[in-house]
Amino acid sequence: MPGKPLVLLLSGPNLDLLGEREPEVYGRESLADHVERARSAAESLGMLLEHFQSNSEAELVERVHAARGEAAGIIANLGALTHYSWSLHDALAAFDGVVVEVHLSNPQAREDFRHKSVVAPVAVGTIAGFGTVGYVLAVRAVACLLSPVART
Ligand code: DQA
Repeated sequence: MPGKPLVLLLSGPNLDLLGEREPEVYGRESLADHVERARSAAESLGMLLEHFQSNSEAELVERVHAARGEAAGIIANLGALTHYSWSLHDALAAFDGVVVEVHLSNPQAREDFRHKSVVAPVAVGTIAGFGTVGYVLAVRAVACLLSPVART
């Protein structure tokens, strides 16, 4: 992986509706707004950021496979797939870089079905409940984890 490290930001089902969908839970910013902020945070830390959104579990699995050997890190907000997609769990387990799980809301403070994450066991950690700043925090976490100091 020569050059600047690539961070893949993965967005799962229904996140394409951010800004319109349940704004009292997810805020009024669009997915494009979040991605732009994450991209500029990544660039200011010397990394490149690519975003991929899909409502299809299969497409998300394929994108994780393609990230193997390509991306240094994955920031994943897999929407409801977080709670039951063992195929995404396995795909992320096969990814050789840093994985950070992100949620705009705090799933632990919501319905029971959101309390389980199948992503969490294959992530370094989870950033949840910080709304609009969550993606920027996740980018910073990836940068720290990729820095030689963090690895020592
Ligand atoms: C979410 C939380 C999930 O439970 C939900 O299904 C989403 C969004 C979040 O960012 O807060 O779609 O991942």
